[in-house]
Amino acid sequence: GLVNTREMFAKAVHGGYAIPAFNFNNMEQLQAIIKAAADTKSPVILQVSKGARNYANPILLRYMAQGAVDYAKSLGWEHPQIVLHLDHGDSFELCKDCIDHGFSSVMIDGSHLPYEENVALTKKVVDYAHQYDVTVEGELGVLAGVEDEVSSDHHTYTDPEEVIDFVTRTGCDSLAISIGTSHGAYKFTPEQCTRDPKTGRLVPPPLAFDVLEGVEAKLPDFPIVLHGSSSVPQEYVDIINANGGKLPDAIGIPEEELRKAAKMDVCKINIDSDSRLAMTAAVRRVFNEKPAEFDPRKYLGPAREEMEKLYKHKIVAVLGSEGKA
Ligand code: G3H
Ligand code: 13P
Ligand code: ZN
Ligand code: NA
Repeated sequence: GLVNTREMFAKAVHGGYAIPAFNFNNMEQLQAIIKAAADTKSPVILQVSKGARNYANPILLRYMAQGAVDYAKSLGWEHPQIVLHLDHGDSFELCKDCIDHGFSSVMIDGSHLPYEENVALTKKVVDYAHQYDVTVEGELGVLAGVEDEVSSDHHTYTDPEEVIDFVTRTGCDSLAISIGTSHGAYKFTPEQCTRDPKTGRLVPPPLAFDVLEGVEAKLPDFPIVLHGSSSVPQEYVDIINANGGKLPDAIGIPEEELRKAAKMDVCKINIDSDSRLAMTAAVRRVFNEKPAEFDPRKYLGPAREEMEKLYKHKIVAVLGSEGKA
């Protein structure tokens, strides 16, 4: 069956790699994630947001994710390590509903609340979840942009002085922190970037690794999570823009920085936007090149292939989780 994150995080923290947490809303994404994980023998976290649950229907989504374990076995993966995780849970009730219906892990995102309220809410979820051996991710610090339906125009980096108190008092199993990543395909404004004189491409400012180091100094070997970790591959942006799309100056986190974070105590890296871009690039290309095509399998099939390629690349070349399951 599905597993929680406890053992895989302990191994990842000590092994110097990170587990991919890929969001999914639909069958093609799920198939691509499982195929990529099975082919590379990588532990994987299937991540479902509140919006994804509403889009796909909570019942269907849950059965799809549970079916993914058998699907993985049918692909020759003997002992699949697959987590079903609620992404950005915003209330005790939502977390409880997921825990009661087969999720093996949940996030309670109280990062926008005053500190003491975040502690109280996270502890309440942990106390409930641990009765069912479900693991819990908490968050300290605020990412710029839209997170959990709350938007912020600037990052509030995690304060390393708070993390011991938060983790001890809540009992959470992992901690999401803010070090300069953000959700979506526009992680930096052109004004925050410099320009590569040769290619003309935007070059983003570095992440706040000093904050991550500060957290690690306070909480050695504690599983740290990075949200907003899509790299926004420029080849996808170019394909989208060349085929009728409009994503000017889309920009993400350089893979080199994610590689570095994965070698540190970061053991869960969240990626959603890159999969959306892979899918959109593939679909736009088919629509543009084969305007007579109207069988969804003829455009969702190529989209699925492109996502599988992307997920494998993340596992093998960025997070280092290949062969760990
Ligand atoms: O954190 C945000 C994830 O990318 C999920 O996004 O709420 O649009 O499903 P969503
Ligand atoms: P991206 O938008 O960078 O893919 O981040 C996804 C995420 O953090 C989901 O929780
Ligand atoms: Zn997130
Ligand atoms: Na790591």
